[in-house]
Amino acid sequence: MDTFKITGGTSLGGSVRLHGAKNSALPILAASILVSGECIIHNCPNLSDVRTTIKILENLGCRVTQNGSDVTVNAETIDSSDIDEEMMRTMRSSIIFLGSLVSRTGQASIFYPGGCEIGTRPVDMHLKALKSLGAAICENGSSIVCTASSLKGAKIILPFPSVGATENIMIAAAVSTGRTTIINPAREPEIVDLADFLNKCGAKIYGAGETTIEIDGVSKLYPCEHTIIPDRILASTYMSACAITGSEIVIDDIRPTHLSPVFPAFNEMGCRLYLGDKSLKIQAPKRLRRVRMIKTMPFPGFPTDSHSPVAAALTVAKGTSVVQENIFENRFRYVSELNRFGADIQVNDKLAVINGVKHLHSANVNATDLRGGAALVVAALGAEGTSTVSCIHHIDRGYENLETALSNLGADIKRISNGKETVQKECNKKE
Ligand code: UD1
Repeated sequence: MDTFKITGGTSLGGSVRLHGAKNSALPILAASILVSGECIIHNCPNLSDVRTTIKILENLGCRVTQNGSDVTVNAETIDSSDIDEEMMRTMRSSIIFLGSLVSRTGQASIFYPGGCEIGTRPVDMHLKALKSLGAAICENGSSIVCTASSLKGAKIILPFPSVGATENIMIAAAVSTGRTTIINPAREPEIVDLADFLNKCGAKIYGAGETTIEIDGVSKLYPCEHTIIPDRILASTYMSACAITGSEIVIDDIRPTHLSPVFPAFNEMGCRLYLGDKSLKIQAPKRLRRVRMIKTMPFPGFPTDSHSPVAAALTVAKGTSVVQENIFENRFRYVSELNRFGADIQVNDKLAVINGVKHLHSANVNATDLRGGAALVVAALGAEGTSTVSCIHHIDRGYENLETALSNLGADIKRISNGKETVQKECNKKE
């Protein structure tokens, strides 16, 4: 398994471009099976989760081709409705295929995704919603079989604005009869991106990003080309790396409205933010200030996925910061690893109390999950000396060539693969 070797304390500079959002690419690729013909998805990040999704599409019988960040999916040849257990284990979010498969083939047979590193992550809302649309669900211990000869619009009230459940409903209801209304849907930018993709294919989805979504079912979807939105969580990770190293960097291809939930925290840390049309210059002070309280909430609240890298930056802030995690119950597993750098964080249930220290020292740590792993990279960039971050397959799920992007900003970071340093890839900046 690969490891990052990072020598911290180097200041960062220059500019970096965001790759496409993982959390948009996965549902959009899953939704492409509803389309009769070839969809071309641009700005698709080259991540292990995206590769797993492509493998699922191929196993279902779709023809998929990749050319750089362009992925073409032709689902005309689909001949299976089963996703095997190994795939479900590799990527929990393959639950997103439930709605698209049942809508396209009349059946979806998958394995129960179960819990994961950051929480128990039940799928009750997904199943209840699909039942409301007329699907029959048969749960058999570890597997779920969902069948429907056709899906019919319904009014669905979500008790919590689940991102995945909202996506499954939108995808399933896009090709159906009648009108579906989702009350209290998730409002994340990735929901809007999925609706944009489906609408380009001929779906009739209104109100994505708002508090009610209306979907008028259509009988067929048509091919389209779509460009995935930039990854806002990646942006907040670069911002955290800049903050902890007291640097100044420019992040290109951002959407300011997607990042506005994290701006107040960086302002409170003493960072100066200069917004362009699609770029952000962030200038960090020599010593960060504490942030009184960060509470993770569904969009437009502070994103749970950004909390760990931001918490890593706060370990060296002057004063005590508090992070309240309200979405996933196990999201603080990275904290004990972060404390190995000399950070002083205490966790009590949903709260992490971060007593800022002057300096972090080097440490050898293990990534516990995707965003927790990113937090360890941020800490290592700010720590004095050479650190190693192992188990970085977690990080590779959501960050494309993170070491290359950070090296281009001036960081001293290398990937160790089979005991050998891998050659840095050429600059991955895109036009
Ligand atoms: C998605 C994102 C993930 C992000 C999360 C919250 C993808 C691939 N992943 O995950 O990066 O952290 O949104 O922004 O887009 N819940 C239930 N029952 C359900 C569904 C969810 O109780 O049927 C709970 C979950 O356990 C969690 C909360 O609802 O506590 C939010 O989960 P949800 O919004 O569904 O997250 P995901 O779609 O899994």
